Amino acid sequence: MEAILLTLKFNLYHQMIISVFRKGHFNAAHRLNVAEWDAETNKKIFGLCNNENFHGHNYEITVKVTGEIDQKTGMLIDTTELKKIIKEQVEDAWDHQNMNIDVPEFKNLNPTAENMAIIAWQKIRKHIPLPIELTIILHETERNFVEYSGK
Ligand code: NI
Repeated sequence: MEAILLTLKFNLYHQMIISVFRKGHFNAAHRLNVAEWDAETNKKIFGLCNNENFHGHNYEITVKVTGEIDQKTGMLIDTTELKKIIKEQVEDAWDHQNMNIDVPEFKNLNPTAENMAIIAWQKIRKHIPLPIELTIILHETERNFVEYSGK
């Protein structure tokens, strides 16, 4: 026990990098389609996600921020603030929307999980102070998910 406390005390005088996670959730409709391709090719590439009349997914977004712990507060980021950023930038903007029709960023961009993760990253990045690093993990289904870190 004493050794653990000594280690902790020692580390407090050095840089301590930690990651904080916050999850958000939204439901949205989309259709994946490339206008220049014929129906058969689109169906072949996008499968069910090419359904002409759209379809929905229950998206789960995990926002990961990584950086140095503030020695005074013992925190990396105020999670209440992080919750607010996710709500305003993603949940309020995308929940119960048709991504292709209702969300301006996807007027000319296929709303794949990949593209949605990148757009979410860009929107959230503006509200996370540097040098805190940001990673977005977006689940389109329980088994299909993507990760984007801004590279
Ligand atoms: Ni889909």
